[in-house]
Amino acid sequence: MAESERTRERERERPVRSSYELAIEHDKEFAQRQLMGRVVLRIEDCPQQQTRQGLLRTYLSPFAVHDTPLQHWSVFTHEVRSTSGKHRHQGGVIIYVIDGKGYSVVDGERIDWEKGDLVLLPLRPNGVEHQHFNSDPAKPALWIAFIHFGIRDYVASEMTQTEVSAEYALQESRTR
Ligand SMILES: [Fe+2]
Repeated sequence: MAESERTRERERERPVRSSYELAIEHDKEFAQRQLMGRVVLRIEDCPQQQTRQGLLRTYLSPFAVHDTPLQHWSVFTHEVRSTSGKHRHQGGVIIYVIDGKGYSVVDGERIDWEKGDLVLLPLRPNGVEHQHFNSDPAKPALWIAFIHFGIRDYVASEMTQTEVSAEYALQESRTR
């Protein structure tokens, strides 16, 4: 018997795990993450990435970080050097300003902030369009955002990019 046929036969013999068994496995993985998952996210393990929205450093992400006890949070910093991208998504987002000063334009309204401030994006029927600006030419502003995905999913949030960040546009033009 050819090896490929034997492999197919073995696959046919393997019992299909029921959704009940998968649920038990899920619970075991959850418990294991609570015991053994990373509880300190080291800055050196979370590199900054130039994204369409800006210069982001991701600490927690349901899409990208799978070995921590908390799997339903997105936590990331945004270093705003000049102008971020502009996008629309649902609010319920908490932003703490770690350093510097700047402002956000939220649905056309300018909101000024500086080091130590807490900025909230409100929940509105169509989400909120927003863009961030650094207002100190001497240094970038730095903030950290906390998004709970339970809330985000239940309010059917969708991210729509309406403008890319200044640094991303520059980087893109150099690679063309
Ligand atoms: Fe945003």
